[in-house]
Amino acid sequence: MKLHVNIPGASYPITIERGCLNHLATSIPYEKSTILVHDSGIPLQWVNMACDQLHPKAVFCFEQGEGSKNLHTLEQLLSAMFEAGLNRKSQVVALGGGVTGDMAGFAAACYMRGIDFYNIPTTVLSQVDSSVGGKTAVDLGCAKNIIGAFWQPKAVIIDPDVLSTLDDRQVSAGLAEALKMGLLFDESLVEAFEQDSPDLVSIIARSIDLKRGVVEQDEKEAGLRKALNFGHTIGHAIEGSFEDYEYLHGECVAAGMLYFITDPTLKKRVRRIYDTLHLPEIRDFDKAKVCRLLRGDKKGNENGISCVFVDKPGSFVFKTMAAEELDAMVERDPYEEYNR
Ligand SMILES: NC(=O)c1ccc[n+]([C@@H]2O[C@H](COP(=O)([O-])OP(=O)(O)OC[C@H]3O[C@@H](n4cnc5c(N)ncnc54)[C@H](O)[C@@H]3O)[C@@H](O)[C@H]2O)c1
Ligand SMILES: [Zn+2]
Repeated sequence: MKLHVNIPGASYPITIERGCLNHLATSIPYEKSTILVHDSGIPLQWVNMACDQLHPKAVFCFEQGEGSKNLHTLEQLLSAMFEAGLNRKSQVVALGGGVTGDMAGFAAACYMRGIDFYNIPTTVLSQVDSSVGGKTAVDLGCAKNIIGAFWQPKAVIIDPDVLSTLDDRQVSAGLAEALKMGLLFDESLVEAFEQDSPDLVSIIARSIDLKRGVVEQDEKEAGLRKALNFGHTIGHAIEGSFEDYEYLHGECVAAGMLYFITDPTLKKRVRRIYDTLHLPEIRDFDKAKVCRLLRGDKKGNENGISCVFVDKPGSFVFKTMAAEELDAMVERDPYEEYNR
């Protein structure tokens, strides 16, 4: 399946196809000077498959994990690009999850004021969400995605077969972002999670297509795209509150969404889906630290922080919350009213 992201001056195709990692040359101009970026956690079989087709001038491997998504690793990557002699006509190819895509994309955005970027997402989270839309960034300490740029990829290549090596916890965490898309925009995507054996490929395709639609309407997050922050306001703060990133991004977003679903029936429904996905209940965070991090939220201004609420699947409302109101929310247990 091929989708097309139509953004003035920066349109690009998304290929979603089992086995398409075997046919990279149809999407990526392999004759150009390329740096392939991946982390230490992705199985080498995928790296080798990509290298065999792209013959990159350099391969940059960094230590896996959110803890690497920082200026230090970015500098190492940019140095590797410079040392490999990459120029304005060269390209960066990311092969990996959201951490790899965010950092490689930002390196492409910065290097010589911007060179071509291709993204091959290999986690569910990156396939359903982060690979499309052009948001690239690194973290600054525990402040997530604070240094970044909008930089659209030239193409996104999604091969669901690469997920065969991904562990179940990562799969579930990624699916939380797809569920978020359903809750915001399309109840049938929520229903897809309630089937006896949910079809992963169609969930990926539906989710990324919804993201495509949002990005086309609002590339730079002036309005509609802000809805994608559903679950992220408190979720990001919870994620950043743990020194060692104990919980995965999607797990924190799942927890974060519960604070902003006020209808108890819908909350119950969502919790049931969390149970089938074996998403953890996250209660062991430092509440004071989460509140501190919320005060530094990028979406905040002097009136408070713009938050997204969902009460009916497929629709949402924005509400500006004062810091004190959010503090009170963080104090409450989001799992309390749920009876299995
Ligand atoms: N740019 C955006 O719009 C956007 C949106 C959502 C999230 N994000 C970012 O995405 C990041 C999280 O992404 P993630 O969940 O993909 O994490 P990740 O990139 O750290 O990948 C998770 C783990 O899976 C491993 N892995 C990757 N592919 C694999 C495969 N096929 N088989 C086995 N292991 C594999 C990696 O080595 C890593 O250890 C966060 O930094 C978040 O801020 C960005
Ligand atoms: Zn997210």
